[in-house]
Amino acid sequence: MRNDLEIVVAADLNWGIGLNGTQTLVIPEDRRHFREVTGRGTVIVGRRTLLDFPGGRPLKNRRNIVLTRDGSFHAEGAETARGVEEALSLCAQDGAVFVIGGESIYKAFLPYCRRAHVTRIFANAENDAFFPELDKLPGWRLTDPGEEKESGGLRYAFQTWEKDG
Ligand SMILES: NC(=O)c1ccc[n+]([C@@H]2O[C@H](COP(=O)([O-])OP(=O)(O)OC[C@H]3O[C@@H](n4cnc5c(N)ncnc54)[C@H](OP(=O)(O)O)[C@@H]3O)[C@@H](O)[C@H]2O)c1
Repeated sequence: MRNDLEIVVAADLNWGIGLNGTQTLVIPEDRRHFREVTGRGTVIVGRRTLLDFPGGRPLKNRRNIVLTRDGSFHAEGAETARGVEEALSLCAQDGAVFVIGGESIYKAFLPYCRRAHVTRIFANAENDAFFPELDKLPGWRLTDPGEEKESGGLRYAFQTWEKDG
């Protein structure tokens, strides 16, 4: 079972990532960064987050694996997995694999990840979806704090977190 997956997430100071099924704080530069990081790799995404993509459609130029327990769910351009193990076996031979949320998917796949690309937004927004608090998790450390930038009044940094061992 591979344990080298990478996470891509935008989180505020409280590790908040979304409200009512959508992202609260949106930074255009972060969208670009997301495309650059995920490149032509494989993405693993929860059904709820997929529905929040433009038109509810999978991401272009990437292999999309959607997690759902709904046997009748189908999305053109995506493959479905009914659980973590099925998703991991589908992408066993792939190059870079990115876990792109949402909350339930980040939690379920965290044990199989070794790196997190975190767009840290230095603000506190209202959220009902959260990312695990990497700064309190044993084994995880901030290996690159990134450069602090500003966009639309929001300060942010592209951070890299890595898991030891
Ligand atoms: N800031 C960011 O970077 C970022 C990125 C992504 C998402 N988000 C936010 O995260 C929030 C959504 O998170 P969420 O947890 O509500 O939804 P989610 O993780 O996107 O999707 C949840 C759905 O995934 C399926 N699922 C989850 N675990 C599964 C498992 N072990 N096996 C099979 N299927 C599984 C289920 O689909 P079925 O109901 O079909 O069975 C479940 O309802 C939104 O607010 C979104 O904006 C933020």
